Amino acid sequence: MKIIVSKSDFQNLGTDLLVLPLRSVELKNEGEKVLSAFGIDGEVLSDFKAEAGEAVVLYGGSRDFSASRVVLLGTGEGKKLEDWRKAAVALGSKAVELKSEKVAVDCSGVEALASAMGQSVATLAATLVEGCYFGSYRFDRLKSDKLDKKSQAGKSKKIAELILVVPSEVIVEAEKGAADGKVVGSCKKMARDLVNLPGNYLNADDIAKAAEESGKKYGYDVKVFHKKEIESLGMGGLLAVNKGSDHPPTFTVLEYKPKGKSKSVVALVGKGVTFDSGGISIKPSENMGEMKSDMSGAASVLGAVEAAARLKLPLHVIGLIPATDNMPSGTAQQPGDVITTYSGITVEVGNTDAEGRLILADALTYGKEKYQPDVIVDVATLTGACIVALGYSVAGLFSNNDTLADEIFQAGEQSGEKVWRMPLWDLYDEQIKSDIADVSNTGGRGAGSVTAAKFLEKFIDGHTRWAHIDIAGPSFTPKGGGKVNGGTGFGVGLLVELLKKWS
Ligand code: BES
Ligand code: MN
Ligand code: ZN
Repeated sequence: MKIIVSKSDFQNLGTDLLVLPLRSVELKNEGEKVLSAFGIDGEVLSDFKAEAGEAVVLYGGSRDFSASRVVLLGTGEGKKLEDWRKAAVALGSKAVELKSEKVAVDCSGVEALASAMGQSVATLAATLVEGCYFGSYRFDRLKSDKLDKKSQAGKSKKIAELILVVPSEVIVEAEKGAADGKVVGSCKKMARDLVNLPGNYLNADDIAKAAEESGKKYGYDVKVFHKKEIESLGMGGLLAVNKGSDHPPTFTVLEYKPKGKSKSVVALVGKGVTFDSGGISIKPSENMGEMKSDMSGAASVLGAVEAAARLKLPLHVIGLIPATDNMPSGTAQQPGDVITTYSGITVEVGNTDAEGRLILADALTYGKEKYQPDVIVDVATLTGACIVALGYSVAGLFSNNDTLADEIFQAGEQSGEKVWRMPLWDLYDEQIKSDIADVSNTGGRGAGSVTAAKFLEKFIDGHTRWAHIDIAGPSFTPKGGGKVNGGTGFGVGLLVELLKKWS
């Protein structure tokens, strides 16, 4: 998607789709004025309420500008960034529906809108672009069009050009914002593509390759540890989960270093289980296919490191991605096994389906030891219990540091990728005690997401600024759950917002 910020008149643009964002308050007072300026009959206002994300298409409007369609886009009361984002997503989605390739948005009121929201023009521009990326996303790589040649129903048309028409005073700021929005929007798209790829298209090696490709393209280092090296490092958690697999594991380390001075060292760890069958503790077959999304944490980390590099943030960012599938077979690990992790801590594997924490354990300890980061954040589709607690839109947040927890919460509010903090009290340790090993990977029925987090906490070697984000719910929209089902890229926006905060 080409993004253009322009101050030119609509008359000269020649777009497929002209978009007029409107606030509900504005509608009552001066809606007709705004519309008549664009040659649109005020009558339409009886149908359109300008609720956030409401989009009404008008055809054959004025001859004064060369757009074949006009979309009235509701932005709600125009006070919340969230409403603006909703509108942007709706616009992206509408444009794909209408097969509009060239879309122009009237942003003449962007300054007033920004100040009413307590945000900058740059943020509004970024959110608009990011939202358009999100709403126009379709995963059709694996569609052939063989069964529907005429209508080409398989493949969708993508927006080729998005034009933000802004007042000349804010053009520089809007351009900066739009460029940032493009980075986050496209990194999120990459993450969604990886999540949507099924197990037979994406194994541990493919994740490593995706990282290498990104590193090459955007100029940051990527080192891939293959099975032999993982064995010599003694990453017993990753190796144990991989035991049942026909595909070797990988451990990928992404490293972005700024050209100038770095303000801090940030380690991001992402769970990369390319398919989670549960292993010998096998999952029920219903909806098991959704477990292709069990590498969403890895995808978010890859997306965030790429974004940091493209935005040239003044931070040293390290992404750590342990990857494998979790399969049953004659060689698979068995419930009751005791394994030795990279840290030396022994684990009784009560349930082979609690595999994420085993691979994260190794990556957390390695990251802490090797890089001595100022802060460690891990992102993982770790527990079904987190979906029970918080649903499909909100991630669980666990942290041993109140300031860090607040920063992540705020980044969630700002990015629209919401998190809610859950406890990490030591009383939960009782549930993951093992009779024969240092710790058990299962914690019984209650508080499944908390005991999982308590388990991870053992592997950070006393680090005092660590957070774990359980994205099992918001990382993937199950069939029928939304307009566009599948991977959401959740985590990219949140992490980038957080990194920007530290920049
Ligand atoms: N990948 C799953 C968690 C999950 C479930 C993510 C549903 C997304 C949607 C994880 O590996 C898992 O299986 N966790 C178990 C842990 C249990 C065995 C202690 C769970 O949540 O049931
Ligand atoms: Mn599992
Ligand atoms: Zn899993």
